Amino acid sequence: MFNGQLEKIIKKRRSIRRYRPDPPPEEWIEKILLATTWAPSPSNIQPIRYVRIESKNIREKLKNEMACGKEKLLKKLDTLNSFEKLKKWIKIYYNRYSIFMFDAPVLFVVGIQKKEKGFYEKLKDAKLGINYHRDWALDISVGISICHFILMAEAIGLGTCVLTTPFIFIDDINKLLCVDNINFKCFLTLGFPDESPYPPERISISDLYIQI
Ligand SMILES: Cc1cc2nc3c(=O)[nH]c(=O)nc-3n(C[C@H](O)[C@H](O)[C@H](O)COP(=O)(O)O)c2cc1C
Repeated sequence: MFNGQLEKIIKKRRSIRRYRPDPPPEEWIEKILLATTWAPSPSNIQPIRYVRIESKNIREKLKNEMACGKEKLLKKLDTLNSFEKLKKWIKIYYNRYSIFMFDAPVLFVVGIQKKEKGFYEKLKDAKLGINYHRDWALDISVGISICHFILMAEAIGLGTCVLTTPFIFIDDINKLLCVDNINFKCFLTLGFPDESPYPPERISISDLYIQI
């Protein structure tokens, strides 16, 4: 029976970029992760993995890598001399949309576990000219898994933010984390919100709904 509870959660959720320092209870985090296991995936392979970055040492290394990455980009643009606006944007995306993740009490990096070749990879190897890319299905799976995560967190009273911008500043995330069997796709913050952002505008149904 439709009681509007889910609709309320969906509409109330915002991307949170300021967190209280106190960490959420571990049982809550487990509950959220458990919700992600119920996400659909191709042939139910359940390929999504959540790596929680707890080690101060690794967080520091990651932060330094991002700071160096940003400086490298700015330097490259300096030598090209004509990208003032892009330089400004790089600074904004670094300062406003990336480094806040280190102030979140819980930080995940989320990705797809690499597996040995299955049916789809063998199809691809056979070069049959099929216009189907396995990566699409796996990327969709990450999206759905994260959707379960952020909505469950909202339902429990926690804030989240999905981040992909940090990868602009990171050279080799697998090497940095010493994890080589996961294709990382995004970072994900979690904690008690310390802000209530105004909801950004949404497009209308007529813009997104196309009948042919
Ligand atoms: C795939 C994806 C990547 C995103 N990357 C970032 C990011 O790197 N940094 C950031 O601050 N927000 C990021 N966001 C959050 C969006 O900016 C946010 O969802 C959007 O502005 C709508 O706001 P809302 O989530 O509060 O409704 C990302 C969201 C998605 C779905």
